[in-house]
Amino acid sequence: MAIQQKGMHGAWASRWTFIMAATGSAVGLGNMWKFPYVAGSNGGGAFVLVYLGCILLIGVPVMMAEVLIGRQGRQSPVNSMRDVVNESGADSRWRHVGWVGVAAGMLILSFYAVIAGWALAYIFEAASGDLVGINGDTAGAIFGNLLADPGRLIFWQSVFMLLCIGVVVGGVKKGLGVAVEILMPLLFIMLLLLLGFSFFKGDFAAAWNFLFNFNVELLTWRGVLEAMGQAFFTLSIGMGAIMAYGAYMPQNANIGKTVLIVAFFDSLVAIVSGLIIFSIVFATPGIEPSAGPGLMFISLPIAFGGMPGGLLIGSAFFVLVSIAAWSSAISLLEPCVAWLIEAKNMGRVQANLLLAGFAWLLGLGSVLSFNVWSHIKLAGFTIFDFLDFLTANIMLPLSGLLIALFVGYAMKKELIDTQMVGTSARVMKLWQVTLRYIAPVAISAVFVMGIVDKFFS
Ligand code: PHE
Repeated sequence: MAIQQKGMHGAWASRWTFIMAATGSAVGLGNMWKFPYVAGSNGGGAFVLVYLGCILLIGVPVMMAEVLIGRQGRQSPVNSMRDVVNESGADSRWRHVGWVGVAAGMLILSFYAVIAGWALAYIFEAASGDLVGINGDTAGAIFGNLLADPGRLIFWQSVFMLLCIGVVVGGVKKGLGVAVEILMPLLFIMLLLLLGFSFFKGDFAAAWNFLFNFNVELLTWRGVLEAMGQAFFTLSIGMGAIMAYGAYMPQNANIGKTVLIVAFFDSLVAIVSGLIIFSIVFATPGIEPSAGPGLMFISLPIAFGGMPGGLLIGSAFFVLVSIAAWSSAISLLEPCVAWLIEAKNMGRVQANLLLAGFAWLLGLGSVLSFNVWSHIKLAGFTIFDFLDFLTANIMLPLSGLLIALFVGYAMKKELIDTQMVGTSARVMKLWQVTLRYIAPVAISAVFVMGIVDKFFS
């Protein structure tokens, strides 16, 4: 039965399609919206360094482990995990790791679609000329009006969800594969154009200094936890997206090298987005880099509104953000859809409608947390902030920790070796040490210190 199920969803056309799909998953709101503002509110340079350290030391090894489990199991994360645990003769409780992923995926998709909806709304806001000549107050009012209007938020959230369904119903080859092959090159071209623009028209030097000047006093344990959470979130690891994509990866592709390419692209896009955003922000007097989630939607529009060609550049920028969000959100939906198809024998269309509908419904909680429910607090957070903190800073690192421990200690060696053929003994050793010791210790320490810092100081 398990054997027959293998590969039932199809496979990527080539290793490059996997790279583009995984990069599409990784590069998203996390890089363009979240990274700049979290770096901004944690003081810049030192945060960026910790973040890059987490990517290399924890992110890459855990991502390799996830791809490996996926490619061995060739199914949705839940069933891949179950089969690999069985084949390894490991404790059956390891299976549950797959479930943390599916749950986190639904939770993330729920609020992700809301923020992506803001980006969609701003394409039209920018194109309509509404941003021309605005100042801080008007920019704040435009954003404030959007957040205060549940109807508009729900409209854009729904449009975004429909875009995601449109791709995922097409399946692995014709849906996701085709989408990423078009969207990713487009994304990179637009990013380069905007980088050129910000280099010549913005304050590039100030942005560079802000992101790379090391200011350690501004960093707290909470900041380090956020840097680690950001590393997990941005690489799409700990959730099953990468495991699901790994299930469709050609057998002959080298996992280590492929993952390094994806992590490189992802970090590059985060840094470049930071440079673009801060160049524009610093060129505009009176805007703070630490503006928080509004950085992209308040500070940037002021800057766009005040510059020649800002109408075009502004719309292009929000198209770019929407594309990035789109290619990520499909990877939040696919693992859950694949699981429903396998477990309940459901059709792809039905599974899509059901799960996207569920995430949409859940997303209403986030929509309302910006207006009528803004007074409702969970552990001191609004519903939206709570979901963001819970998934990025707790669920993803936790399930990443379990994945590292599983592949490090419990997975059958022969299975690992078959998936890692062609990898040098030195790299294997280094990877194993990281999974067994470095990643678990680092994740646990950051976890404990970050949580203590958040709730007890
Ligand atoms: N990596 C995506 C981003 O940076 C978010 C994401 C997280 C996507 C987890 C899939 C799984 O925006």
